[in-house]
Amino acid sequence: MSITHVNGPLPGPNSKRLLEEWHQYEADVTGFQAPTVWDSAKGCVVTDVDGNRFIDWTSGVLVTNVGHCHPDLVAAAQEATGKLLNNYECPNTYRVEAAKRLVNALPDHLDKCFFLSTGSEATEGASRLMKRRTGNYEIISFVGAFHGRTATAAAMGGLGGPKKNYGPAVPGVIRAPFPYPYRDPCGWCDDGPDFKRYFDFLEMTVSANSSGSLAGVIVEPYQGAAGFIFPPRGWLKRLEEWTHANGLLFTLDEVQSSYGRTGRMWALEHEDLKPDILTIGKAIGCGVPVSAIAATSDVFSCLAKGEMSSTLGGNPVASAAVPVILDIFEREGLVQRSAEMGAYMMPRLLGIAERSAHLGEVRGTGLVMGLEFVKDKDSRTPAPELIKPIITECANHGLLVGSVGIHSNVIRVAPPLVLTREEADESLDIMENVVLGLGE
Ligand SMILES: Cc1ncc(COP(=O)(O)O)c(C=O)c1O
Repeated sequence: MSITHVNGPLPGPNSKRLLEEWHQYEADVTGFQAPTVWDSAKGCVVTDVDGNRFIDWTSGVLVTNVGHCHPDLVAAAQEATGKLLNNYECPNTYRVEAAKRLVNALPDHLDKCFFLSTGSEATEGASRLMKRRTGNYEIISFVGAFHGRTATAAAMGGLGGPKKNYGPAVPGVIRAPFPYPYRDPCGWCDDGPDFKRYFDFLEMTVSANSSGSLAGVIVEPYQGAAGFIFPPRGWLKRLEEWTHANGLLFTLDEVQSSYGRTGRMWALEHEDLKPDILTIGKAIGCGVPVSAIAATSDVFSCLAKGEMSSTLGGNPVASAAVPVILDIFEREGLVQRSAEMGAYMMPRLLGIAERSAHLGEVRGTGLVMGLEFVKDKDSRTPAPELIKPIITECANHGLLVGSVGIHSNVIRVAPPLVLTREEADESLDIMENVVLGLGE
């Protein structure tokens, strides 16, 4: 019996009514998604208000790594909700336990954390920390980066979307190119282990733009919103060395890449990175709104009392989620499982790419893979016009996917890490049929 079930083209009648009502009252300003209204979800399977069942390759947006509505997480959140729903700036039993457990799960050199609610708050906070610790105010970030939508987070981003039509971005950000192996006109990606040409260019960019007040560097281990772009191996380590050699702080933005997504608990493990600051979000709460900044005590020591705070940071319900999720990871071996399921799915996806005229590249590791669509494989011209039909057709057959990309031409493969082989097979069948049916 198949896991998925879709009764007719979407939206079904109940979804249609609710979508209309939604647009009547809430501003219609979010991105394109499959036209269906979610009713409930469990593990990797989402059920909509018409009783249609889908396999989820979105995890929300890389959030529900332990699976939707994991019973242990639901129970912990329910218990905390009934006991203590809010307090501010003072500890509660959940917050103390969450901090202890998170620090114990972090790489050894990071011995302190601070809880906030969203990824943007964490990256915004990291920028303040870099500035306060060094006394300088300039931050180096990357073309294609996404660090959130608040003012400095957006300024540190390197995508036009969040900035366009909003006037000048917060000053003091120097954006350097990020190596994009599939589109590498300058030959930076296979330039030897030192990436000499790349770092010569970085230095030129910095010296041409800096007023001499550099504080730090912020970078994602892979660029998520830009299209799941993975830099060539060794580049991040070289960047970290370059950052430290220049006396700057190194912030790794793992809001998206942490909690097993890449087949390691922290993506930094792939290259043994030792960031001064780590930003964490999304799967730290698996749907419960929580984020965190992790750093060394030495870095945090620059802040005076009262300098970092947030209404809902360390909230009891958010904090209750943190240790439970770490327990689930351990008990269910989710990091290992992400690596295994990614390795299981990758050959199938590569096989689809081989037979497709438009699937130009499949890339990724663990359960974060990007499918980049092009008009043809020789020119590699981006084909953003294929994305809406792919999302819609996949949904019509029972698979939920989302899109990203500097060129808006990449489909995300990012299911919850609890994906089973049966779910992988059935969802891959759907994707194969849709991709190979793209007017070829
Ligand atoms: C790497 C990274 N940083 C920061 C953010 C912002 O997180 P939030 O949407 O929770 O503010 C995101 C969100 O997608 C992200 O992927």
